[in-house]
Amino acid sequence: DGSMHGKDVLTWLDYNQAEVSQLLAQAQHLKENPYSQSLKGKNLAMIFEKSSTRTRVSFEVGMVQMGGHALYLNTRDIQVGRGETIADTAQVLSGYVDAIMFRTTSHGKLKELAEHASVPVINGLCDIYHPCQALADIFTILELKGRLCGVKVVYIGDGNNVAHSLMILAAMMGMEMVVSAPDGYQPDPLITEKSQALAKRYGGSVVLEENPEKAVKHADVIYTDVWTSMGQEEESEKRLLDFKDHQVNEALLNKAKTNVSFLHCLPAHRGEEVTASVIDGSHSAVFQQAENRMHVQKAILQAVIGWK
Ligand code: CP
Ligand code: NVA
Repeated sequence: DGSMHGKDVLTWLDYNQAEVSQLLAQAQHLKENPYSQSLKGKNLAMIFEKSSTRTRVSFEVGMVQMGGHALYLNTRDIQVGRGETIADTAQVLSGYVDAIMFRTTSHGKLKELAEHASVPVINGLCDIYHPCQALADIFTILELKGRLCGVKVVYIGDGNNVAHSLMILAAMMGMEMVVSAPDGYQPDPLITEKSQALAKRYGGSVVLEENPEKAVKHADVIYTDVWTSMGQEEESEKRLLDFKDHQVNEALLNKAKTNVSFLHCLPAHRGEEVTASVIDGSHSAVFQQAENRMHVQKAILQAVIGWK
């Protein structure tokens, strides 16, 4: 209905259940009908301050499949890397392109870019959120389980960007979300509070349970992410110790429902947050999940910059 047209996608906290459901339905349509000219002549600038495989390739291929074009801009190469301001960059790019995707070290920079850009800005991962990932996650869960409402998804590991966005969307879709993080790595209390308020409104729940064995009881989905995110490399030795009891392995999987699915945003570190036997085993849907990044992002792009 065009309600999202022109809007930024920085966090799902700015959206409602009806809009998210509409994106999921459109993603399903696009998965069945990938090629169109629906974004003919449209250009997406993609600014990366950090590495990427999935986000970069899925956005670029997605744009091309819809008749548009995408530009890969690494901050090492563009003038931001030499001190040109985000505000100036936002205004300059707005004169050339129809939308900007930004992967950045800080949500503040993302907000600054969005404030000064006259075109929609899409969060391609920041320190607090990873909204495109979470939309692909719930789309995948819907494919696997046939519903979202009442599905129990248990996130094991770091209460980080990936966990935050998943908590928000799970709550908004009436799911039962449990986050099992070791002490010191709990999700941001403010995001927990906001997700719990959403869950209350939509009939779901968001619960913190430090003990992973208790957390995965009756789980429909077990989800994990790396213990050391991009930019935290100097903490990796400490994190290996702090997270050692939060590994997703077969023993943990056996404590969930027998038809439990395993998800991971990827990239993965086998032997750390997940064992090879789990991520390469029969419960894993991680490559289906990775492919779905493209379908949901195409739906986002059509919603915010599609021809009316
Ligand atoms: N999951 C994800 O965002 O992957 P990339 O870092 O490869 O984009
Ligand atoms: N939490 C990870 C996700 C990578 C897609 C990171 O921020 O590096």
